Amino acid sequence: MCGIFGCVLKEGNAAPVIRSSLKRLEYRGYDSVGIATISDGKIYLKKDQGKIDDVHKILNLDDLPGNIGIGHTRWATHGAPLKVNSHPHADCTGEIMVVHNGIIENFMALRTELQNLDHTFVSKTDTEVIPHLIEETLKENPKLSFVDAVQESLKRLEGSYALAIISTKEPDKIICARNESPLVLGINGNGVFCASDIPAFLPVTNKAVMVNNGELVILTAQGYEIKKIRDSSPVSREPVTIEWTAEMAVKQGYPHFMIKEIHEQPETLRNTLRMQEHYLDLLTTFLDRANEVFLVACGTSYHACLAASYMFSKLAFLPTYPVYASEFIEQHGKSVNIDSTILAVSQSGETADTIAAVTCAQQRAATILSLTNVIGSTLTRISRVYIGQQSGPEIGVAATKTFTSQLSVLAQLALRLAKKRGKVSQDEIDSLEENLDKLPDIVDTVVKTQEEKVKQIAKKYKDSKVFFFLGRGISTATAYEGRLKLMEIAYIPSIAFPAGESKHGPISLVENGFPVVFICPKDDSHKTLIGNIMEMKARGASIIAVVEEGDEEIKTLADEYVEVPKGIPSVLSPIPFAVPLQLLAYYVALEKGYNPDMPRNLAKSVTVK
Ligand code: M6R
Repeated sequence: MCGIFGCVLKEGNAAPVIRSSLKRLEYRGYDSVGIATISDGKIYLKKDQGKIDDVHKILNLDDLPGNIGIGHTRWATHGAPLKVNSHPHADCTGEIMVVHNGIIENFMALRTELQNLDHTFVSKTDTEVIPHLIEETLKENPKLSFVDAVQESLKRLEGSYALAIISTKEPDKIICARNESPLVLGINGNGVFCASDIPAFLPVTNKAVMVNNGELVILTAQGYEIKKIRDSSPVSREPVTIEWTAEMAVKQGYPHFMIKEIHEQPETLRNTLRMQEHYLDLLTTFLDRANEVFLVACGTSYHACLAASYMFSKLAFLPTYPVYASEFIEQHGKSVNIDSTILAVSQSGETADTIAAVTCAQQRAATILSLTNVIGSTLTRISRVYIGQQSGPEIGVAATKTFTSQLSVLAQLALRLAKKRGKVSQDEIDSLEENLDKLPDIVDTVVKTQEEKVKQIAKKYKDSKVFFFLGRGISTATAYEGRLKLMEIAYIPSIAFPAGESKHGPISLVENGFPVVFICPKDDSHKTLIGNIMEMKARGASIIAVVEEGDEEIKTLADEYVEVPKGIPSVLSPIPFAVPLQLLAYYVALEKGYNPDMPRNLAKSVTVK
């Protein structure tokens, strides 16, 4: 999730406007920054790794000349957060400059094709194929205008993009285009702006034009022209007035980052389905060879590991051991060895306990693999192979979108391993892959249709002194995650355990009105889970069930229920089933008057042991 910005001004230099606008997009990523402008038909470029203010101090980004330019603040996905991978990216001649937010899925094929045509690539990014592709299109069709060459090139891109492109060939314009990644225009008396998000230009204008998927826009000092990439048909769209304050705009109108991030999950899940095949394959190879695999993490990331242990076991017949990172050294520090494999999972890649566990295992020659949201983090530096989960920055302290992304990547790994090991039938693999692809839409449906219902449940149960969260099988991980969310932001003591454990002790706590949240996918554990619900009901518990649509059996037993679309395979169920629990925690916190983005005593990244 990077931030892009561009502007064509009637008067004044573009670079200071671009820099200050990028600053307001820094919440989208801050691994590197770059600005390119055009003046007197020449390109001027400055870029480097690091945050905008730090890079500006050294390079003085404002002194680039020209009234037209583009800029980028990066959240690394393809390629480490280094200067060479910073945007803007150029073609071989340096006459075409591109900034990009999104993921070009077919970049490897395009890169090979272009390299065979003698194009020289300098970065590891997917973006770099775009300027080279435009250059090649122009070479092959010298009669095409620059805009037409861009349009033709866009037709060859697969994946997501918001792009802003400048070139000395038509130095008075910016061409931008959108497919899935956000793009919006701003208009004022002094020019036009394009950006990933409204806050970028809000201090200079509140007149915005939304760009839709499949559209290309030509910006000049005189205004903007929108057309369809597919067939050049013109699109007429008037600006709308944005009433948000700057603070509201960063949260896209949501009152908190947490709820914004919950709502972002369909998009982040789509991004995680665009993982780099190469890294998935490499990790799969290491996991396939492993003698023993420890899944090491803290907090929410640990819950993703717990769910993954069911996925690896059920799909790939690979036993794995989920371990709290803070316990790893005590529990396995002496026995871990050259034959051990660690798959560490950490959103931040900086969690002290996870780094300590991994360092211990590394010193004992174990193989270190990792999954993280922050490329360039400590964890990526000490891993033999890592994969980025591509969720974009998460600002709310409570992990939400990064949890479901982790689950999606881990499910993809488990599926790959299953394929490699030939343990499940091709039909089953095909069906699981189809279901994985559907998850972004399913999560979208859950958020859209169940949020109101969850709000009412939160109102009703906000004063409960304690909650139980129960599930069986892989849903135990979902239950643990629901419990953690409620505790950390609504400060309600909560207990989670596998539902089968109830009668071995915890059920003694239950009395009239005691809220018990059951996670109820329609999987092999469904029948037994109904028995567990009955046990709780018999003792007066209030049952809050997360069920599959049409699960009349549980719906009639429950005091409250929230529905998730039906037909989700058990191994994928934690992704959609976790969403109502995130919403529950959020709305209970609001009911109690707490700020869910900043829970007391907690930090986003826990860098002490
Ligand atoms: O960055 P990490 O994934 O390593 O962080 C692990 C935990 O600190 C984190 O998941 C924490 O539990 C969150 N506050 C949960 O919402």
